Amino acid sequence: MGSIADSRAVLTKKVLPQHHTAITLLGQLLAAPGSDHIAWLDLACGKGQILAQLDENIPEPELRGKISYLGYDIENENSRVAEKIASGLKLHAVEVKTGEMADFSKLVPVERKFRFVSFTNTVHELRPELIATLILDILLRLDAKGVLYIYDMEMLPVPELGAVPWDGDDMKKVLTTMFDELGCGKPALIA
Ligand SMILES: C[S@@+](CC[C@H](N)C(=O)[O-])C[C@H]1O[C@@H](n2cnc3c(N)ncnc32)[C@H](O)[C@@H]1O
Repeated sequence: MGSIADSRAVLTKKVLPQHHTAITLLGQLLAAPGSDHIAWLDLACGKGQILAQLDENIPEPELRGKISYLGYDIENENSRVAEKIASGLKLHAVEVKTGEMADFSKLVPVERKFRFVSFTNTVHELRPELIATLILDILLRLDAKGVLYIYDMEMLPVPELGAVPWDGDDMKKVLTTMFDELGCGKPALIA
């Protein structure tokens, strides 16, 4: 499969702050009392840039062994690389699905719940009309204590076709408006 935008998933040794934050959140969930198992969905996982930092930042095999990992990406090559990295980390389970984001809700049933969803550096590559349904589809797949971590580039060193330079406050407005429209309580949002 090919991605719809000028998408490049890079795998570098450099730890970017957004990936470091994802690992910090994951580490907190793993260390929380009573968390024997963490289902982690890495949406648009790319070549596994978060995974690639995991053994260094969560060195305890007993903590990593609590993770069931599901990666999801449109690019076969990315999925292959991510799966290879994940398979070497002694996780509880590893699965990587290749699919278009618009097919996410078909490929990952709503009964399947996740404690942690990472969705980094990808919102700007997707059609805007897909974002609202996708966020709802993700929220429906969080378990009762689930955490969704979305990060995108607020500033790009080189302008990128289709880039959405929203900052955290813009994203908060999108989510609070969506929840208002749905008649739900306010979500816990951290920018
Ligand atoms: C810039 S990379 C980010 C990868 C990773 N999340 C990270 O933070 O390094 C964007 C990823 O989104 C994937 N992607 C782009 N459009 C997609 C689509 N329509 N459906 C599924 N994945 C898509 C690309 O294949 C690519 O791996």
